[in-house]
Amino acid sequence: MAFSRRNLLLGAVTTAVFGLNLPRSLALATERFANPLKIPALIEGNPGEGGKLFELGIQAGTSKFLPGVATPTLGINGAYLGPTIKCRAGDRVTFRVKNNLTEPATLHWHGLHIPARQDGGPHQVVEPGAVWEPSFEIKQKASLCWYHSHLLEGTGEQVLRGLAGLFLIDDDESRSLNLPSEYGVDDIPLVLQDRRFNRDGGFEYLSTMGDVEMGYEGDVILVNGTIDPHVVLRRQRTRLRVLNGSNSRIYMLGRDDGADLVIIGSDGSLLERPVRQRRARLGPGERIELLVDMQPNKAVTLMSYPVIAGAMGSGMMMRGMRGNSETFPIIELRAAQLETNDLSVPERLIAVPHWNPAQAARTRIITLDMAMMGMGRMGSPAMDGPMGINRRSMDINRIDLRIPLGSVEIWEIRNATPLTHPFHIHDVQFRVLDRAGTPPEPYEHGLKDTVLVDAGSAVRIITEFSDFADPDHPYMYHCHILEHEDAGMMGQFVVV
Ligand code: C2O
Ligand code: CU
Ligand code: CU
Repeated sequence: MAFSRRNLLLGAVTTAVFGLNLPRSLALATERFANPLKIPALIEGNPGEGGKLFELGIQAGTSKFLPGVATPTLGINGAYLGPTIKCRAGDRVTFRVKNNLTEPATLHWHGLHIPARQDGGPHQVVEPGAVWEPSFEIKQKASLCWYHSHLLEGTGEQVLRGLAGLFLIDDDESRSLNLPSEYGVDDIPLVLQDRRFNRDGGFEYLSTMGDVEMGYEGDVILVNGTIDPHVVLRRQRTRLRVLNGSNSRIYMLGRDDGADLVIIGSDGSLLERPVRQRRARLGPGERIELLVDMQPNKAVTLMSYPVIAGAMGSGMMMRGMRGNSETFPIIELRAAQLETNDLSVPERLIAVPHWNPAQAARTRIITLDMAMMGMGRMGSPAMDGPMGINRRSMDINRIDLRIPLGSVEIWEIRNATPLTHPFHIHDVQFRVLDRAGTPPEPYEHGLKDTVLVDAGSAVRIITEFSDFADPDHPYMYHCHILEHEDAGMMGQFVVV
């Protein structure tokens, strides 16, 4: 295939004919749903003195996303992305993280409730050739978490190149529900990412000013590193564990056959009961778990539809300046012959912990700030950098918040900028209280660690800062648009 600008243009035209607004430029190289979905290897650790031991090697390599084109990538124990880590609540786990790159890197355990020293944030840099060995106990609910690079000012690029993977946590409560749980068979992980390619086949990154302001968006969708994927399902019922691992793109998930999504899980836990809804919005860093029932010899396409804030209230098209107004396929689910499995969904799944607002020791106001080209500073006017929180850009030598151990707090995250931002807090799982005074979406009622805060809106969350007091090692809170995080929309808190 010739790799040229002309193909890019042609791609845009051809896809318009198919009614797809997403310029599937390079995906033209392959047919619709031509490629079998890649499933990341599952690792469950080897028994060692410190509990289960996992070996993780950060490495560079090349990947073939497009026919005949080699793309330089990063991965963990492989060329692109990392293995899926699986453990159980109560496990003691140790990770031997070796950095085989010629540049520093980190691995952050997104969603895990662990000591700040083990968190893998910007303070836990693994230098080239070095080994980092965090060890901790899994003290939380069954959930789909993940891990990724969190290098100061370098997260966006390292995640883009491939430093990310899934982290599954299992517990007795979730096991008793008989949900599909055979990894790669009826429990299928879907890591959603978008990328742009250079002429030479490499990933294109930060080539325009808008990439930082609006967040990086690609014109090709990868699912577990597969372009134009399909997956053949063998059981009547399948669980899809979906991570939005994109740098900034927000997806509006739905099925092409108009049937409802059956949503059973959010970021940090299952839901109390299954939620049936046509669409579900998934921001960067967020996770959602779905159940899909198949008919023999039929196919269903999981789609992304235009992200319209109307679904959330105002009727305004979000991010209208660029992106997220497209309709495009994510993956085709194909059924061949189907083995029967348990098709009853318990009407009650788990008990989700919650906190009463009356218990809260305080409400903290968190204001997201950014300067937009030609528009001046949005949010707090007196900010000290291009992006920030409460008027300050990230400074690794400054602690922004000191939170008393054991306190229940409400955080009110305010967004006076013209973009939607996915706000993430390390260490804790929270409940979303409300979004601009109205209840969150039904599928946002589980435990969460990342929440979308719409333009001109505010979200209130509540959580408890239990365990792991340490005045010297901070946790991060930030926008999970990785370009915003890297540009300073991040702060640090210690639990004391
Ligand atoms: Cu997913 Cu601070 O990160
Ligand atoms: Cu995190
Ligand atoms: Cu942001």
